[in-house]
Amino acid sequence: METLIVYKSVFHGNTKKIAIAMAEVLNAKFLDVENVDKKIIGDYDLIGFGSGIYYDKPQKKLMEYIEGLNNVKNKKAFVFSTSRQNRSDYNDWFKENLSDKGFEIIGEFHCKGHTIFKGNPNEEDLENAKEVARNIINTYNQILDMPEDSTNI
Ligand SMILES: Cc1cc2nc3c(=O)[nH]c(=O)nc-3n(C[C@H](O)[C@H](O)[C@H](O)COP(=O)(O)O)c2cc1C
Repeated sequence: METLIVYKSVFHGNTKKIAIAMAEVLNAKFLDVENVDKKIIGDYDLIGFGSGIYYDKPQKKLMEYIEGLNNVKNKKAFVFSTSRQNRSDYNDWFKENLSDKGFEIIGEFHCKGHTIFKGNPNEEDLENAKEVARNIINTYNQILDMPEDSTNI
């Protein structure tokens, strides 16, 4: 399973900490969206997309990147975000737009990201992100084990 994480983390590096924690478990390459060519997606089976939330949306460069992707087949994705408010629905933009491109979403993570007083992501947040990453591996492997057309069973 070749895994890539494409992220944008411009404020305090909060989301980058999550990207690193998940990459460690997934043995993934992690890259700032500004250093990733769109064609690279073709080289990976599983791609994670993550961002801090700014004015209720993921960072602009990452949204533009996703909007500019060609439709894909047989690719899995997971998404993550950090924000001042603890709102996992901030992942919805990713989930909707990546599903529209043909990605199958097999995991997501969200946690608070500090604005002024340092705190989040804290150790517990990082451990939770790693646990989500472990579940993503399990889900990915279960999907691979399924017969191609399980509807005939
Ligand atoms: C310009 C700006 C706008 C933000 N807008 C929101 C917002 O709409 N909702 C929210 O919950 N947090 C908001 N935040 C807080 C960030 O989402 C939060 O600190 C996040 O962890 C930043 O991630 P980063 O350090 O990876 O960039 C905003 C922060 C900044 C700097």
